[in-house]
Amino acid sequence: MEIIFATSNRHKLSEAKGIIETEVLLITPADLGITESIPEDAPTLEENALFKARYLWEKTGRNVFADDTGLEVEALNGAPGVMSARYASEECDAGKNMQKLLKELKGISNRKARFRTVVALILNGETHLFEGIVKGTILEDLSGTGGFGYDPLFLPDGYTKTLAEISYEEKNLISHRGIAMRKLSEFLKSIK
Ligand code: IMP
Repeated sequence: MEIIFATSNRHKLSEAKGIIETEVLLITPADLGITESIPEDAPTLEENALFKARYLWEKTGRNVFADDTGLEVEALNGAPGVMSARYASEECDAGKNMQKLLKELKGISNRKARFRTVVALILNGETHLFEGIVKGTILEDLSGTGGFGYDPLFLPDGYTKTLAEISYEEKNLISHRGIAMRKLSEFLKSIK
């Protein structure tokens, strides 16, 4: 079975291929000549993922899945959440986003946070949602140079290293996106 993964991010694509490709052949919108960026301005991760998947389903009539991720900080009532990429500004600058987060959490002792990924799948016209969560805490200083986004500030529960200090393979095993993708993979296996 062929399925579209609504992404233009090479890293996400290779990560998803590693998890899913025994079940299906993944293609991207670019493989079909679709290069426009799809809006991601809905108020929730679920709606963003669904919008992207539906957009491509309506355009191509093919099976498709899309993901959206946010960092949800307890003391900030779930912010930056759906705004994670553009938290500090429209530039989507990870360094500025992390500085803003540290500023917002200054003096706050509750540093609990979680990354949450939602994957929306449209298969033969039917919609399915899968969620992946990794819980942790936000440190007071950056640590590590690996990963991307907020990784240098995020200490997963039970770990002594941030997501920016562990290997790519280890991160995929515990990460929100890895968990959501494996749920998708299991579902695709189960309907074969
Ligand atoms: P996206 O929906 O995967 O594009 O993620 C939105 C934003 O969430 C990214 O721009 C990052 O700021 C943040 N983010 C998503 N996944 C991760 C991760 O694995 N580590 C750190 N930050 C992430």
